[in-house]
Amino acid sequence: MTATLERQAHNAAVKTGRVVWFTGLSGAGKSTLAAALHAELEARGTAVELLDGDAVRENLSKGLGFSRQDRDTNVRRIAFVAGLLAKHGVTVLVSAISPYADTRREVLADLPNTLEVFVDAPLEVVTARDVKGLYLKAIAGEIEHFTGVSDPYEAPQTPDLHLKTDEISVEEGLRRLLQALGEE
Ligand code: PPS
Repeated sequence: MTATLERQAHNAAVKTGRVVWFTGLSGAGKSTLAAALHAELEARGTAVELLDGDAVRENLSKGLGFSRQDRDTNVRRIAFVAGLLAKHGVTVLVSAISPYADTRREVLADLPNTLEVFVDAPLEVVTARDVKGLYLKAIAGEIEHFTGVSDPYEAPQTPDLHLKTDEISVEEGLRRLLQALGEE
């Protein structure tokens, strides 16, 4: 191996970050867990960035709606940015419903060191929580294409980590995330 190739291989090994992809229904706890992991990794001195669905939709994906096409565009944009960051050694936390299994599979396949986390809470639970008051509106027919109510959510069949947020605390979820990342 030439010195240049050796250096490139070394840089790739040292620099490549990872992508933790949180998927699940609205109100399942994706943002809460991602924020907890973000705070913990930052406190440990890790270069970490959070790409949260709500914030992304106010900026990078402003103007997109919730049709399948728009959701897929949103997810692909997030994945594109995650890939750029990960290339420079950043641990990227993505929190987005990302409801379509095919699209998740496609984008995750192109990203380095991925951990797909299924943030799982039954529809009855997220509806009862209704943190943003959106389920009530969706059930009343005031919001079209609402995930879990009038739009599909395709749960991962073999996620890397399955967190049932109606059964475990945020602290326990965080512990399992750190363990899965080899950071305990
Ligand atoms: S997606 O499917 O990945 O593109 O969705 P995402 O970017 O994560 O945005 C989900 C947040 O948008 C709010 N919202 C809706 N969610 C689902 N369906 C419909 N129709 C909808 N309209 C608005 C909702 O607050 C989601 O926030 P989270 O953080 O998931 O609770």
